[in-house]
Amino acid sequence: CGIVGIVGHQPVSERLVDALKRLEYRGYDSAGVATIDGGALDRRRAEGKLVNLEARLKEEPLAGSIGIAHTRWATHGAPTERNAHPHFTDGVAVVHNGIIENFAELKDELSEAGAEFQTETDTEVVAQLLAKFRRDGLGRREAMHAMLKRVRGAYALAVLFEDDPSAIMAARNGPPLAVGHGNGEMFLGSDAIALAPFTNEITYLIDGDWAVIGKTGVHIFDMDGQVVTRPRQISTAAAYMVDKGNHRHFMEKEIYEQPEVISHALSHYINFIDHRALTVSDGIDFAKVPSLAISACGTAYLAGLIGKYWFERYARLPVEIDVASEFRYREIPLSPQSAALFISQSGETADTLASLRYCKDHGLKIGAVVNTRESTIARESDAVFPILAGPEIGVASTKAFTCQLAVLAALAVSAGRARGTVSEQEEAALVKSLAEMPRLMGQVLNSIQPKIEFLSRELSKCRDVLYLGRGTSFPLAMEGALKLKEISYIHAEGYAAGELKHGPIALIDENMPVIVIAPHDRFFDKTVSNMQEVAARGGRIILITDERGAAASKLDTMHTIVLPNVDEIIAPMIFALPVQLLAYHTAVFMGTDVDQPRNLAKSVTVE
Ligand code: G6P
Repeated sequence: CGIVGIVGHQPVSERLVDALKRLEYRGYDSAGVATIDGGALDRRRAEGKLVNLEARLKEEPLAGSIGIAHTRWATHGAPTERNAHPHFTDGVAVVHNGIIENFAELKDELSEAGAEFQTETDTEVVAQLLAKFRRDGLGRREAMHAMLKRVRGAYALAVLFEDDPSAIMAARNGPPLAVGHGNGEMFLGSDAIALAPFTNEITYLIDGDWAVIGKTGVHIFDMDGQVVTRPRQISTAAAYMVDKGNHRHFMEKEIYEQPEVISHALSHYINFIDHRALTVSDGIDFAKVPSLAISACGTAYLAGLIGKYWFERYARLPVEIDVASEFRYREIPLSPQSAALFISQSGETADTLASLRYCKDHGLKIGAVVNTRESTIARESDAVFPILAGPEIGVASTKAFTCQLAVLAALAVSAGRARGTVSEQEEAALVKSLAEMPRLMGQVLNSIQPKIEFLSRELSKCRDVLYLGRGTSFPLAMEGALKLKEISYIHAEGYAAGELKHGPIALIDENMPVIVIAPHDRFFDKTVSNMQEVAARGGRIILITDERGAAASKLDTMHTIVLPNVDEIIAPMIFALPVQLLAYHTAVFMGTDVDQPRNLAKSVTVE
């Protein structure tokens, strides 16, 4: 969910909605705004995307120069207007991002004392608690402090009290909150980008902080109610609402941006002239660490899985990797001499952050591979490895994925050199391959569109699709399946090619296309054997390979997508392009909401 607040001197509702647009990546199930005007709280809420809220506000505008707003990704309670934030109880308005874990217990307690709940959300207990403490005679700050002592879980909160039209109260424990300093106005937002058109002077709240934000400044307190100071910094978040250019969707634009952003990212990690991987950070000494732990969620996790192959192969560094939601609870024995890498586009994913803190508690050095340098994950790390992909708006990750890969590849080569497992000659060859990536990506993007569109039309008629790959193409097969599921809602699975015969082969028939990702690498012949197994059972194969692979495979595949020959280290990034485009065009044929697919959010700050 995304939160904004403005304590201003002009009407705020339009600016609140404008800021919510920059937070829509955090969820878009429903949205709402509340303001205080003439001493009275009022709100407008709407189910679905922000355009619906905008339409409501047009019909029934909302005056007031102080307000809070919210865009929701539902956790407790269906995404209806009734469950949309802000929640109102007896002169208190609340917006919330996160989960109040003890809400059921609090709800019972409050209900017994006579409270009447209007929604199914966990958030309403916050409003009900505050209202109760006010009825008990507590002042606004005392009520806020008392409420925070009762709630357990993860939250970013913004609160308005009807009897104080001059301040917003906020609290953070988990999901991020940034306070923006304006000229006679103050702002609150889930990130600095939301506030970018208003101000670039930001104070980040840290976990356990709560704050009272007035027109001219902010007072911040800790859980004991003591005043604390947090630094005021200049944010680099650009003041723009990124547009789609000539593209139909952000996702398409972001796919086509890849040659440029990869080249930008690489320039921070390799020297294009003397073909060396740069020693990028002294926060982690890769030469000394006995092992590496990697954790992430979703697409970032799949990038990490490919990174594992590279760190093990080039740097001979054993890698422990798991999705963050498992990693954090597995009680993995970790050596304090080791290092841990956390990969996250947003830098805010709750499970990834929890895994980071777990490793920190075990004394490991922490590295962050992130797109958002001001994020919580970046701020809590010893070494930050920015992926420099620029803002990614499409919910399905594309350019962040390939930039994560580019950074991980360069880091693995750099670690290999530091550990003496990659010779100077090998390093030069690997770096030369990496440097070729932007050119090759451009070449692929310029040539494969017609074929992809043709195949996507076929895929859009299917119910299930299987993706196969070996080596680094295996995680890419999983990413292909994930992309297709996310945006076209077609069921898809990614499998290790060698595992096919241990189960999924039972599914093969003439209705299920099998997309085989097979560059002409060390594993090519093995993967071809697995393809034979599919063909022998009447399966329809779409082979994604390179020129050498196309010449070598004698198979009668249904279709072949032929890419230029590429060196092994860059194959995952180059082969990611047809995989992304297949999902994209299939979704376009299906007519789904490509940039904001149902039920998903781009940044997930709940467990
Ligand atoms: C969400 C997004 C995914 C993303 C994952 C991790 O589920 O929908 O696309 O891969 O979170 O996000 P992060 O920001 O940590 O990379």
